[in-house]
Amino acid sequence: MNENLSERKDVLRHSSGKIIEANNISKKFKVGRDQVIALQKTNLSLKLGESLAVVGPSGSGKSTLLHILGGLEMSDSGEIHIDGELANNESDYLRTITRNEKIGFVYQFHHLLPEFSAVENVAMPLIIRRVKYSQALKSAKLILSQIGLKNRLNHYPPMLSGGERQRVAIARALITNPCLVLADEPTGNLDSANATDIFNLLLERVKLLDAALIVVTHDSKLARECDQVISLA
Ligand SMILES: Nc1ncnc2c1ncn2[C@@H]1O[C@H](COP(=O)(O)OP(=O)(O)OP(=O)(O)O)[C@@H](O)[C@H]1O
Ligand SMILES: [Mg+2]
Repeated sequence: MNENLSERKDVLRHSSGKIIEANNISKKFKVGRDQVIALQKTNLSLKLGESLAVVGPSGSGKSTLLHILGGLEMSDSGEIHIDGELANNESDYLRTITRNEKIGFVYQFHHLLPEFSAVENVAMPLIIRRVKYSQALKSAKLILSQIGLKNRLNHYPPMLSGGERQRVAIARALITNPCLVLADEPTGNLDSANATDIFNLLLERVKLLDAALIVVTHDSKLARECDQVISLA
């Protein structure tokens, strides 16, 4: 077992060493009489400390894949194991528990709550877990300071730049110390210098957590920084 694996004693209770393994994931959507094949027999497998980029043209199913892996949507077929446990095919309640405990999600369009400040947005996942409010705010302040937003704690999302909003969204995804981070085009709306910065920040922070990362990107240069790349058609 390498160093990373031994450090995350809270996860990898199962022996395979894989934090996520997805086999033959397929998904169709029905809209009226039309059917859209969003995913066809997609496979992936990741260990703690590894990163995987998902690339493919618009409409190729990248967001659908991430939503299914994160338990936000059900696949039609296939199996997903997270930390060795079957994570789809479960009740909504169990999928929600798995998602809350093990997964951090950075959405394609940040999804910050506009009526809450940056620090409150980041603290929200801890507050939902019933961490004491003052402790949740303290942790949120710390992580925001670590990623260069010490002077933006009390800004509301509409007052932040695009890059700053993405940093806040990343901080919110990481604050619960997840073992798997799913990020859907976290740099999609940024200029290339900012995109590289945010992408590297995400890779670095996920490595620090000894977590695994699955990230959707249109940028093949950024994708090559990941350990694995899968291409959807
Ligand atoms: N809820 C839904 N109902 C019907 N069709 C859907 C639904 N969600 C996605 N689709 C369809 O499934 C396909 C895959 O969508 P998805 O959002 O996963 O693509 P994507 O690769 O993330 O695209 P983009 O790069 O534009 O974000 C698209 O053709 C889309 O229209
Ligand atoms: Mg998408």
